[in-house]
Amino acid sequence: MTNRRRFLTQSVAASTGVFYIAKTSWAQKSPGDTINMAVIGFGGRGSSHISGYKGLKDEGVRLAALCDVDSNVMSKHVQALDKDKIKVTPYTDMRRVFDDKSIDAVSIATPNHWHAPASIWAIQAGKDVYVEKPVSHCVWEGRQIVKAARKHSKIVQTGTQARSSRTGLAAAVKFVQDGNLGKVLLSRGLCYKRRGSIGKAEGEQKVPDSVEFDLWCGPGPKKPLTRKKLHYDWHWTWDYGNGDLGNQGIHQMDIARWFLGEMELAPSVWSVGGRLGYEDDGETANTQIIYHGYEKAPLIFEVRGLPSTKDGKDMDKYKGAGVGVIVECEGGTVVVSSYSGAVALDKEGKEIQKFSGSEDHFKNFIHACRSRRVDDLHADILEGHLSSALCHTGNISHRLGQAQNPDAILETIKGDKFAAETFERMKEHLAKNDVDLSKDKLTLGPVLKMNGKDERFIDHDAANAMLKDTYREPFVVPEIS
Ligand SMILES: NC(=O)c1ccc[n+]([C@@H]2O[C@H](COP(=O)([O-])OP(=O)(O)OC[C@H]3O[C@@H](n4cnc5c(N)ncnc54)[C@H](O)[C@@H]3O)[C@@H](O)[C@H]2O)c1
Repeated sequence: MTNRRRFLTQSVAASTGVFYIAKTSWAQKSPGDTINMAVIGFGGRGSSHISGYKGLKDEGVRLAALCDVDSNVMSKHVQALDKDKIKVTPYTDMRRVFDDKSIDAVSIATPNHWHAPASIWAIQAGKDVYVEKPVSHCVWEGRQIVKAARKHSKIVQTGTQARSSRTGLAAAVKFVQDGNLGKVLLSRGLCYKRRGSIGKAEGEQKVPDSVEFDLWCGPGPKKPLTRKKLHYDWHWTWDYGNGDLGNQGIHQMDIARWFLGEMELAPSVWSVGGRLGYEDDGETANTQIIYHGYEKAPLIFEVRGLPSTKDGKDMDKYKGAGVGVIVECEGGTVVVSSYSGAVALDKEGKEIQKFSGSEDHFKNFIHACRSRRVDDLHADILEGHLSSALCHTGNISHRLGQAQNPDAILETIKGDKFAAETFERMKEHLAKNDVDLSKDKLTLGPVLKMNGKDERFIDHDAANAMLKDTYREPFVVPEIS
């Protein structure tokens, strides 16, 4: 079939919710069989997927195929694998990977806007899936992946590897949930990670010749490239990325929600922040507070991309963590400052208990592929969906917000002592970066009420319209019944 005819067939199929279902599934074979893996997208993070599965040879894993839309990225990795005598089938179009009946599972590290269609099409083609965080580019599509995984009985792991810290973070979560520090008052996620300017391009930029740009854009809009770098810097554009909240931040958002044990989206959410300190082609906030109003205890998330002081190199820390989570309880605090460890402190700050240790997240995925038990996964897709969606709802409030001066913002939020204290610290941080908030105003988003059961905002059409992307045919994310 020609490419065009295939595209059309798939377009019709996608819009009716059926892409195709290849009759291949590892689950149909015996549990001792080799698991043939394909890695899709390996510009940055995907390289770790390649080495991760390479290292699981003794677990019966064979790295069988690679797919990337950049032929330079592809040849670099194919050559490196060649040296190790590993022969892989190279693909440019991921749909050909899903057609390949010899592939049992896929591992996805493309840009965010591709995660949902890639995962759902793979599931429908009978493959198990490991998908990077955030698992979705918008709330709606994350839920479709969960539905597809359940409908087709597939194993779907989220790439939040901190969840494989079993004797570390999982033990700390249990310690808190067992009530050892009394009631939880607040779970705070921190993403203080330096993010500099991506520069300002003059006019349309050339897409590298090595890239199949139509496939790179996929379900997202196909617009002329107007930032200097195609790869990686998409994180800071709304069409393809989700800002640092959905980049580094989703890891800590997930850990913060894990401590709270919440399994629905928060009943209310608001955001305050902006892209401050420089002018560039990025769109997403580099400084942001998200407030998720869970009933038992709020989840507050802080993003800081600027350093401690203007032109400085150091980043701020709060209670010992820069990229981490602080869980405030009646009887003490838990500080998480890495992906694999936590420390519980009493009210005087004296250490009560330390938790550390991590396991291989890829190996855990393979283990669950063999056992066919979703419960064996350390980061099932439902967890990935909920934590990703907490980033998206925060960004929806931000994108619906209005520029405000700091006094007006404080006036609005001062009724909540945690919010007011967090905002005062944000102001101090920005002052140290010479950001003048009377000129470069912060954006205060509306308080959005959410019905966690159907994952729709209450009485807010504009916010509801942002729960689902518009997809460019034929790369349409299927609705799963
Ligand atoms: N778990 C972690 O610790 C971690 C760390 C970094 C990044 N990530 C996640 O990994 C993903 C990739 O991020 P990155 O920073 O490596 O981005 P990147 O832009 O550096 O790499 C993405 C790669 O995907 C390729 N690609 C784009 N469209 C494709 C398609 N349709 N089919 C196949 N390949 C395609 C690109 O050519 C590129 O090589 C993101 O979702 C990010 O959030 C996770």
